[in-house]
Amino acid sequence: MSDDVSDAAARNLPLRHSDEIQGDVLAGFRKDHETVVLLRFPDDPAPVRQWLARLIPQLATTRQVAAFNNDFSAARRNLAGTDPVGLRATWVNLSLTYSGLKFLMGTEPFPDQTQDGVKAFVLGASARADINGDGGESAPERWLFGRADQPVHAVLTVASDSRELLEVRASELRVAAAHGGLTVVFEQVGATLPGDRKGHEHFGFKDGISNPGVADFDRPDPDHPEQVAGKPGTRIVPAGEFVVGLPLLQRPDPGLPEWAKNGSFQVVRRLAQDVPAWWAQVAAARRTLDQAGVELPVGSGAEWVAARAVGRWRSGASVAHNPNAEPPTKPGAPDDNLISYADDKEGHTTPVFAHIRKTNPRDHFGPDHKVADTRRIIRRGIPYGQPFDPAAGPGHGPDADRGLVFVAYMSDLAFQFEFLQSAWINNTGFPPPGQNGKDPVIGQDSDVNLKLDTVPDGKPLHFAQFVRTEGTIYAFAPAISTLRDLAQRRP
Ligand code: HEM
Repeated sequence: MSDDVSDAAARNLPLRHSDEIQGDVLAGFRKDHETVVLLRFPDDPAPVRQWLARLIPQLATTRQVAAFNNDFSAARRNLAGTDPVGLRATWVNLSLTYSGLKFLMGTEPFPDQTQDGVKAFVLGASARADINGDGGESAPERWLFGRADQPVHAVLTVASDSRELLEVRASELRVAAAHGGLTVVFEQVGATLPGDRKGHEHFGFKDGISNPGVADFDRPDPDHPEQVAGKPGTRIVPAGEFVVGLPLLQRPDPGLPEWAKNGSFQVVRRLAQDVPAWWAQVAAARRTLDQAGVELPVGSGAEWVAARAVGRWRSGASVAHNPNAEPPTKPGAPDDNLISYADDKEGHTTPVFAHIRKTNPRDHFGPDHKVADTRRIIRRGIPYGQPFDPAAGPGHGPDADRGLVFVAYMSDLAFQFEFLQSAWINNTGFPPPGQNGKDPVIGQDSDVNLKLDTVPDGKPLHFAQFVRTEGTIYAFAPAISTLRDLAQRRP
């Protein structure tokens, strides 16, 4: 999302002023510390409504978060790229699961459950495990949260600039919840990685580069109105792709009830990353290629293979623009996101199985990007756990918990998140033609077929799955006015 919007430009971007849409959806909290608190309601709705009524004024709106992010970016520019110390905020958002919504409404929230996205939400993530590829080690029976026998009604997303501020706010929220008779079922803390790994995920790659731009929220580039100003390659898609009841790109309107307007479906997933095992297999793949006599840039090692698996080098530089080596980073340069696969249909440069190509094929199917743009999601993930560095002591070893708190927003769980998981990430046949393998970063065990100009038919490499699902929740972040209605409804 662009955070670089002048006051004048912001006047023409109505969604920046929304007091209805919760702040994490379009503006994004973008804090270094975050916690996701999963709550269960008591049997009596009365104290829950009181809890909700007190919580609502504390929830961050899009207007607040967008304005803050704007000020923060402006201050950062004045400070030559360092964070402004005095500018701090702690944000809170609330979403509800299907059972949480039903409890507060006292009636069926979705009288029509034929629509796939509604069905997914009603059934919940554990019932959709097969679709999402959550079997074996990732099966719901092993999950830390989101199991069928462990109901969750509400999700608090709390984010702040420091761990201390976050903890103060989270404990206030926990006390308030306890007063309402709610219990904490699970809490997942996340934080950006320390030092120069800030902004990178645990395998080492810069994350959060490519999120969609949103119409009426992001400022279009005057010369390329399909892209966000100052963010080449960040395509603007209609807001209804992420927020219910707003214009969609090409899907028919699913006709969700009026109360859902300005809300957004949320996926929260704890994805454990086995960092040493993933890198060991990347190194093994490199040896396989060397032993087969495949000519690769001298000295590029396992990094070359890892960059093919992701589609970017560790710094975030794209393989599309830098096929042979990671380029030196240029401070202040925009993210390398103006990527085209149109001249690389076979994937000789960026493999068709690369994580960023599986999850956003961009112009692979045509210059209008339509196939890709209707499946976009807004990602708000943050790592959890300490970086892998066994020499640094306890908590840094191979057995410590670490991974990604994957958080994403969209307007249709089935059409967007579940489709990405089943039809693209875990489908060896995507993109057609041929069997080029599943996503080697997050997909299930699979052979990928690495094609190069020198090896046009490809060389099979095995990638086992070293990202394990440890919990998933499907929730809905309602508009603020809907939450007010829920708080006021008498049982
Ligand atoms: C531990 C799990 C994961 C890791 C380590 C990971 C890592 C990454 C990295 C390094 C990037 C490149 C940076 C960027 O473009 O922002 C990326 C991009 C992306 N990832 Fe993931 N990811 C994970 C899970 C997922 C999941 C579960 C999904 C969706 C179901 C997903 C969807 C995407 C999308 C849509 C992009 C942007 C692609 C583009 O627009 O070019 N990721 N991920």
